[in-house]
Amino acid sequence: MAASSGPTADNPFVYGEIVSAAAFADRADERERLGRDLASGQKVFLISPRRYGKSSLVRDVMRGLARQKILTVEVTVAASSSYIGFLESYAQALLAADTPAARLKRWASELLRGIRPEVRFDADPLHRQGAGGQAGKARVALSFPAVRTARDTARVANEVFQLPARIAEARKQRLAVALDEFQAIASFNGGSVEAALRAAVQDQRQVGYVFSGSEPSLMERMLGPRRPFYKAGPVMRLEKINPEDFAAFIDERFRGSGIRPADGLGEAIVDLAANVPYDVQRLAHETWDDVREAGKRDAGLDDLHATLLRLLGAHSTVFEEAWQRLTLPQRAVLRALVIEEGQELMSADVRTRHRLPGTSTIQAALAALLRQDIITRDGERYSAVDSLYREWVARKTS
Ligand SMILES: Nc1ncnc2c1ncn2[C@@H]1O[C@H](COP(=O)(O)OP(=O)(O)OP(=O)(O)O)[C@@H](O)[C@H]1O
Ligand SMILES: [Mg+2]
Repeated sequence: MAASSGPTADNPFVYGEIVSAAAFADRADERERLGRDLASGQKVFLISPRRYGKSSLVRDVMRGLARQKILTVEVTVAASSSYIGFLESYAQALLAADTPAARLKRWASELLRGIRPEVRFDADPLHRQGAGGQAGKARVALSFPAVRTARDTARVANEVFQLPARIAEARKQRLAVALDEFQAIASFNGGSVEAALRAAVQDQRQVGYVFSGSEPSLMERMLGPRRPFYKAGPVMRLEKINPEDFAAFIDERFRGSGIRPADGLGEAIVDLAANVPYDVQRLAHETWDDVREAGKRDAGLDDLHATLLRLLGAHSTVFEEAWQRLTLPQRAVLRALVIEEGQELMSADVRTRHRLPGTSTIQAALAALLRQDIITRDGERYSAVDSLYREWVARKTS
């Protein structure tokens, strides 16, 4: 079979996971800037709504830094269910960064002398990929069994937060640390975590940090004048990808994988997906699959439309349940903002047209929808978080 003429075996679009360099669109400036800041030991805040590509950007930048012999460490704060659990995973990730398993135990007790960590190895050969993802390393589990009280935890925290600087010094290497889903730190134990972390990082000139978070309002509050991280470093607000560039990227990848896109396909996908990177890739990925499945070599707008309908069908149970959970005013407000594209919700005209309740009820409904992560707000404009749900609301509700 002539591989060059038909579609390739692999779908070139990726969603739901961190995208690798090859699947990466644009973001050249952001990559450059974040890389430079981290390499020079800055403490950077990276903020955007969900699914804009923070984790992908951070991963990509970290890979570049690793090539410059900078030690890189990535931890997802929201993955921990407690403060001490976070400290354990953080310390573990730091100690395991590029460290041969044989040295880890000694390393841990030397660098964390005061707080006696327990280090266990998981000998399971199936898990040889363990810490750091490199073969030949055992999986390690570090814990602080002696911790009983909040004071113990605070003491451990102080040690762990100093760890990056100690590692940098001991290895004579710079470090770049990424704490993803950083907004979760606020749930651990209020302001004291922020204060302890801020106090520790500000003197660490050999260590760059990126604190990335997907709840803009929470993250912005964390940077407020009365909070420890006020003016701690540069703030990057990740915007959407330039729509023309993203559309061109989509078309090009269709072409590169052996499927000819109709004029304007990339643009239509970006538009339908409200230019949210995750949604764009989802729609492109699913359309590509359907076209290939049908044995075609061209993808048209009708294919895109058919895929959209398939996706809406596949999600309808979930969407119906989500809809049922809303109160009546919330449903009315959601439907109105979908149809009016977020604008002028409070105007008398829109309120009459959509039979909306009074303005204070609208405000309360908007607040509830924001809280439930169903809508986001950009200035005065509200929009549905999930573009598929938006389409479902527009088509299936009344
Ligand atoms: N630069 C990019 N080019 C192309 N697609 C991207 C890019 N960045 C992100 N995406 C798409 O968006 C999806 C979500 O990206 P990622 O997980 O990095 O976002 P995030 O902001 O960390 O999301 P969350 O807030 O859910 O953690 C990816 O799986 C991918 O499909
Ligand atoms: Mg993420």
